[in-house]
Amino acid sequence: MIVEKIKKEIIEVFQKKYSYHQNVEYSNVDEVDLACPLFRISKLKNIKIEDIFDSIKSSLSNLKYIKNISYERGYANIKLDENLFSHDLFKLSLTKKIGQKDPNNKVVVIDFSSPNIAKRFSIGHVRSTVLGNSIKKIYELMGYKVIGVNHLGDWGTQFGKMIYALETYGSMNMLQNDPIKNLNKLYVKFHKEESKNPEILSYAKKIFNELENGNEKYLSIWKEIKKHSLVEFQKYYKLLNVDFDYFTGESFYNNKLNDVVERMKRLNILEKDQDANIVRLNDLPPALISKSDGSSLYITRDIAAAIYRSEEFKADKLLYVVGNEQSLHFKQLQRVLNKMNENIEIVHINFGLVMQNGKKMSTRTGDVQTLDYVLNEAIHMAKNSIEQKNPKLSDKEKVAEKIAMSAIVYNDLKNEKHLNIDFNLANMLKFEGQTGPYLQYTSVRMSSLLQKIDSNLVLEMNTIIDKSVFKLGLHISRIDEAIEKAYSENQPSIISRFAFELAQIFNSWYGNSKIITDNLEKTKSNLSVVYASKKTLDLCLKILGIEILNEM
Ligand code: ARG
Repeated sequence: MIVEKIKKEIIEVFQKKYSYHQNVEYSNVDEVDLACPLFRISKLKNIKIEDIFDSIKSSLSNLKYIKNISYERGYANIKLDENLFSHDLFKLSLTKKIGQKDPNNKVVVIDFSSPNIAKRFSIGHVRSTVLGNSIKKIYELMGYKVIGVNHLGDWGTQFGKMIYALETYGSMNMLQNDPIKNLNKLYVKFHKEESKNPEILSYAKKIFNELENGNEKYLSIWKEIKKHSLVEFQKYYKLLNVDFDYFTGESFYNNKLNDVVERMKRLNILEKDQDANIVRLNDLPPALISKSDGSSLYITRDIAAAIYRSEEFKADKLLYVVGNEQSLHFKQLQRVLNKMNENIEIVHINFGLVMQNGKKMSTRTGDVQTLDYVLNEAIHMAKNSIEQKNPKLSDKEKVAEKIAMSAIVYNDLKNEKHLNIDFNLANMLKFEGQTGPYLQYTSVRMSSLLQKIDSNLVLEMNTIIDKSVFKLGLHISRIDEAIEKAYSENQPSIISRFAFELAQIFNSWYGNSKIITDNLEKTKSNLSVVYASKKTLDLCLKILGIEILNEM
């Protein structure tokens, strides 16, 4: 929007005069809006800093929206014309679409959430789900075609163990109610028995090997386990309002693994090492491709999946939203693909742990806190605050659910993704501060202002309102830039911070001004400001995956 145009024109002035790409920064000092640091250009061109300033001063002053230019300690400081800028920006906002770029004809596949069947959906999988969902939206806005894949962990030796335990210590009807809890118990039991009786591991391996070779009985048990797990996972996806284009888990690649191994043999990159086949990777630990009995491994299935995605979807890039702890795995994956002469770009979008009271948060069975417990607790707390703040609200249950999810989503996205985050429901659910509910609440406040007017009233930007809307306008005009930055850094936290700042600037304007006045012209202008603010905030909420409410 306007500010980008201004920046472009400033850059052009420098370009013309010095063939130099000047950096233009934002300033949070009151009387300065934009600032150009002149140190680098001065050094590069060997011209005194003050002389550079003098030489561009008048050209910059002539640009539209620039009110004055001043020099201070190596910077050219720029003050914009607040009235003209605000007027044009809010006027433009009434009609201009924001955020969406034209299609760029590129395809990315994003692999996110990807929980393991027969296990609990962990709080880390929630983070992958929420981050992936947001990054998917950011890429879509940037003009990509985005394919969302849930790479379920539904294959591997653990199913040999599970089936062995089910047959030896349990029975099929353990799958009828709370199957995941029962399967987890069996899994724990297996490991206990294994410590006394190590040969059961070889039975489990044999079962998995037979499963990979299509044993009907084992396949039908495995299908049953998968079915029950998916029912449970869908419950979380529905709550979080997230969907996928494909649920192609690891098992999907079973019939593509032979090809991978054969190609590696032909390329002479597969080596025998003790009882396994490996690909050596110089400075990284070797990638384990298959065991002596022929069984595949996690990375083997990822290699097949990457090749499949790049061929089937003609993907330009493959994104993987997976925790920090798998960075070696994705480095190895990229390197193996390179060795196979595959021109595939892997991007590991890594993230940190969720911590509670200083420890890694765990939502496993056996602990008191299952994910269900945590989610229900969040909904319950949200409902309590509705009871206090707005007891007459209709459909409290649904609204509470949406507030609770926004609290969790925002908490997952508010910090840079690679950092560990703290999980404290009471803080996350506050209606003020950096929380999802605060943003939802601000959006509701904006809607109720807009609803106060007659629906036939056409908004117009007429008079210039007070000075404080300028800051709001300047912030709003940076939305496209924020989306681009979030895209180039795969960092939804840029949007969450942007939205929080927007809400704060808006609320301070709202707190200090009368928006609906006796003067119709002024009211229309004020509401144009509200309209632009809401449009921008709601776009941010959509990007973050936070539901927009009409009332709360
Ligand atoms: N199922 C894995 C886990 O829970 C995550 C899978 C991530 N995706 C992938 N293509 N490896 O740790």
